[in-house]
Amino acid sequence: MKKSYICCSFVCLMMIFAFATTASFANGKKGHDHGHSVDPHMQAMYALKDKVPMDYQIMERTPIIPDQESLQNGSAIFQRQCAVCHGEQGRGDGPAAKGMNQKPANFLDREHSAIYGPGEKFWIIGNGSGETGMPAFSDLSLMDRWHLVNHIYLLQEGEPDKEKHEHHH
Ligand code: HEC
Repeated sequence: MKKSYICCSFVCLMMIFAFATTASFANGKKGHDHGHSVDPHMQAMYALKDKVPMDYQIMERTPIIPDQESLQNGSAIFQRQCAVCHGEQGRGDGPAAKGMNQKPANFLDREHSAIYGPGEKFWIIGNGSGETGMPAFSDLSLMDRWHLVNHIYLLQEGEPDKEKHEHHH
């Protein structure tokens, strides 16, 4: 029993490794493709994507279930630290957005936002985006960063935006 478990995890690990290697190889090959003039902003976004470690690039969902607790945490932190730029609803229209050259991301523009998957959003929150002007929130715990990603996806789903329950303690 135990032995087969170990063996299975080993095989899984090998598969992940093989996949990651192929994926990063394939990724490295594009880039200089066609000579179309690409929107510099898009270029900056893809350049940033390339900096994100492959483990995060290939994630399809957050590892933290977006239950009520996670979403409440995410929402509270978002209003406190992110809304000033990204806006309360995530439309990129917070008060600080006005003076910025590169406007903060509008998370409700799903097509644009989908360039970064959940793992990439998580990484960007902790590391910042460099030239596009998103600060690094390295003081936030890893859990809080996942709660924030969960919250961003909730904003995108446009869930019935339950009356803003402001709970100040
Ligand atoms: C000083 C303003 C500012 C603050 C504060 C800020 N951001 Fe950003 N954010 C930006 C800018 C500018 C970008 C780059 C927009 C782009 O590339 O389209 C960005 C991009 C992002 C992205 C990647 C784009 C996407 O659609 O996935 C994520 C995720 C993100 N921010 C999350 C957050 C979270 C969570 C917080 C709060 C902890 C936060 N940001 C606080 C300005 C800010």
